[in-house]
Amino acid sequence: MILGLETSCDDTSASVLSLEGEVKSLIAANQDGLHRIFGGVVPEVASRQHSEVLLPLIEQALTDAGCGWSQIQAIAVTSRPGLIGSLLVGVVTAKALALARGIPFVGVNHIEGHMLAPLLRDSSYGPPSGFDFPYLALAVSGGHTHLFKVEAPGKYVLLGQTVDDAAGEAFDKFAKMMKLGFPGGVQVDRLAVGGNPEAFNFPRALRFEDSLNFSFSGLKTAAARMLETLGATEVEVRKADLCASFQEAIVEVLVEKLVKAAEKYNLKNWTVTGGVSANSRLRAKALEAAKARGATLALPPLRYCTDNAAMIALAGLYHFRAGEFSADDHSPSAAAWPSDWQKI
Ligand code: KG4
Ligand code: ZN
Repeated sequence: MILGLETSCDDTSASVLSLEGEVKSLIAANQDGLHRIFGGVVPEVASRQHSEVLLPLIEQALTDAGCGWSQIQAIAVTSRPGLIGSLLVGVVTAKALALARGIPFVGVNHIEGHMLAPLLRDSSYGPPSGFDFPYLALAVSGGHTHLFKVEAPGKYVLLGQTVDDAAGEAFDKFAKMMKLGFPGGVQVDRLAVGGNPEAFNFPRALRFEDSLNFSFSGLKTAAARMLETLGATEVEVRKADLCASFQEAIVEVLVEKLVKAAEKYNLKNWTVTGGVSANSRLRAKALEAAKARGATLALPPLRYCTDNAAMIALAGLYHFRAGEFSADDHSPSAAAWPSDWQKI
């Protein structure tokens, strides 16, 4: 068995995987309640909470998996990118436990975890039949918006990424402007259900460029101006239309770039992961696009899409199989390493 730990942002999570990659247990403790009053994640609050709950979560993950420490052969931990104080809690814990148990540990890139999430297996989920390498992965969350070609475990080619804000960040900032609460993405999704996605015209940046990069900061500014022009009463009345139109601007660009990348690199297997992949409109539009092109789309269940330790354990498992472990002086890093993936 392999133990995975995730503490890169504001979710504390532990998971046990069999060496075949089957999820034996997964626990995630969400900190939304702690950060809500601040309207965003407060790094110091996040790291303090990780250090309070991580050890009990690990014990619970072992109990749920019905396994003891003697069966754990390695520990995988997110070591980059993320909030440095949060990452530190996970890395120090993993190192101390590995040292005490005399087992190896491996520091994993968080986005690698998101990319591999569709390959997780449990009693109610497995990748769709035929889904295999190479595949196209859109990893889209509050901290990142990246398009990769996943050639094999450990072999990733970055095809495009956001040049400014992440898509989830845009959702969260818009929700804050609309006073919908934190985290905002899910609220925008919920309100958009009854709205008209064509009611307001929000900008779609880099749409007609050849590049597979994204940009969402202009959208945020356009939304701020639009809300100011409309005024509080009108915003309240047209809340659903505003949410639907804003959401459409993000989803349309994400799906268009996904399709463009699939055509350019001739990829018939696609996956969308990360917190924003919970978005109902994104799921529907991506499925529609895949169906129209005869592609297989893996949309893992939400527990594997939002930040979780099972995807980290799986990435660690591939490194474990390749005999790649981290040295004792392995340190967390707020940014990804240049060696984490190849750029196009
Ligand atoms: O992957 P994740 O849990 O953490 C990060 O690595 O950031 O993603 C969280 C992000 C937040 O920005 C949140 O607003 C967004 O995912 N999100 C959504 C939805 N559910 C979560 N965005 C749009 N629609 C949703 N239903
Ligand atoms: Zn994430």
